[in-house]
Amino acid sequence: MNKSEKDPVKIQTMFSTIAPRYDLLNSVLSLGIDRRWRRFAVDQLVKRENAHYLDVATGTCDVALEIVNSLKGSKVTGVDFSEGMLELGKEKILNAGLNDRIDVRLGDASDLPFEDNTFDGSIIAFGIRNVQDYKKGISEMGRVVKSGCRVVILEFTTMQSRMFKPFYIFYITKVLPFIGEIISGKKGAYKYLPDSMLSFPVPEELKKAMEETGLQDVRYYKLTFGIVAVHVGTVK
Ligand SMILES: C[S@@+](CC[C@H](N)C(=O)[O-])C[C@H]1O[C@@H](n2cnc3c(N)ncnc32)[C@H](O)[C@@H]1O
Repeated sequence: MNKSEKDPVKIQTMFSTIAPRYDLLNSVLSLGIDRRWRRFAVDQLVKRENAHYLDVATGTCDVALEIVNSLKGSKVTGVDFSEGMLELGKEKILNAGLNDRIDVRLGDASDLPFEDNTFDGSIIAFGIRNVQDYKKGISEMGRVVKSGCRVVILEFTTMQSRMFKPFYIFYITKVLPFIGEIISGKKGAYKYLPDSMLSFPVPEELKKAMEETGLQDVRYYKLTFGIVAVHVGTVK
């Protein structure tokens, strides 16, 4: 998938279109494992008292909610460029009575609207593969984080296991777009997902990209037979 196929305006519109069914689709398509993946990723953030984290491409705010529920006293700012996704996120935050701990704002991952060294950690879940210049996105996530704190990336990877790979490819290229279309009612919306998943760099390449932006001690964990990987890097 080349850069022009990741046109930010198209991606923004696509997410706003599928927003009302996004949470349901996530749970159905991942068979509910997505919550565990997000929890693992959140666990990689450096824990500090009264910490303030940034959730990039926060969407409907599941990661932001996971952070404040699991890290006592923490606050989160969520940023996303889809108004439709953020509206649903805001509703969830209000319903959970957590609007004093999570705030959300519109913004682009490639040009984060925050000063350098603002946050005690930044995290992005299932967002980085959508960012047209993903290296710029990673660099921005590092720029806004204080020294000694971490940048965490949760993303799909192309499964390497020879045994499971054929089933996985069948699932994401055939089953997933089919179910996605039925639940979202939007033809073609879930065609983009397998394309973006299969064209995203393998974990070792993503690790290198993180190192190139200056992050240190970069490592990654593959979860659930390597369906997703969590990359972690530390800001100098
Ligand atoms: C698959 S959703 C993930 C949402 C959430 N992080 C989660 O774990 O469910 C991807 C999100 O990335 C957002 N996104 C994609 N590219 C972006 C960009 N360049 N800047 C800000 N948000 C972006 C989309 O609007 C969408 O809400």
